[in-house]
Amino acid sequence: MVPVLATPARNLTRTPIAPLLADRWSPRGFDENHQISRDDLLSIIEAARWAPSAGNTQPWAFIAARRGSAEFDAIAAALTGFNQVWAARSSAFIVFSTVPARGAKMPRWVEYDLGQAAASATVQAEYIGLSTHQMGGFSADAIRSAFNLPEGVNPTTVMALGVYDDSESVPDEVQQRDLAERHRLPLDQVYLDESVASQLFFTNSTASSPSSCQASKTMTPVLGTKPTWPPRRSFTASRKIVPWLTAITCASGNR
Ligand SMILES: Cc1cc2nc3c(=O)[nH]c(=O)nc-3n(C[C@H](O)[C@H](O)[C@H](O)COP(=O)(O)O)c2cc1C
Repeated sequence: MVPVLATPARNLTRTPIAPLLADRWSPRGFDENHQISRDDLLSIIEAARWAPSAGNTQPWAFIAARRGSAEFDAIAAALTGFNQVWAARSSAFIVFSTVPARGAKMPRWVEYDLGQAAASATVQAEYIGLSTHQMGGFSADAIRSAFNLPEGVNPTTVMALGVYDDSESVPDEVQQRDLAERHRLPLDQVYLDESVASQLFFTNSTASSPSSCQASKTMTPVLGTKPTWPPRRSFTASRKIVPWLTAITCASGNR
């Protein structure tokens, strides 16, 4: 185990959340001298293995490789773009793949399940003092051929794991990205509480088409009546709902 390191800034959450989540972020500067133990790596895989999945189908497979191994080098070689600049300094990679055949009865949730496994791995890594950085920027074909993966096993993400490093040994361009401001969409653009969510039943659907985005910004609230249960009542759609629909359906500067 390594001590939990301070990150550049704790996430600015609106309400307090578990410190492991509040402190989680995805650095690119990794300590190239840090060695991850087999036990630590296994604990991260175990966390992924025990993630929930639709119907308990577990439609996933994990390949883990520590820096210094030929397997690690093969994964590093499969990375693309800027990932090639920073990721090979990490202590280990995990390739997260879907195995759709195993999730055949629940095909709709195969990638969702894999994402939950990756999220669990992330939390376990944070718990033992390691940072993670997930990547979609890699060649799945290169991973497939390097590991001779059977047909139907689909490498979906690669996770870099290790200890954050802000020392001079980290290239400037990597450090700059690590120090860049991190942000999230405002809460009211991704969340409606129950006092207004029910009004989605009634709100004019014009906001769902990008071409109507402009119009929806000026859309007037509509009157609605609830279905049979809960009991019927009329009300005016809240002023919150139209901006919310606009935010989730329109391509905007926030994407
Ligand atoms: C599926 C997925 C793919 C990603 N691909 C890349 C990538 O190829 N390269 C990269 O530098 N970051 C990648 N990221 C990291 C995201 O950019 C990062 O999580 C996001 O900007 C939020 O920052 P935070 O994790 O520090 O909160 C990816 C993240 C996810 C979940």
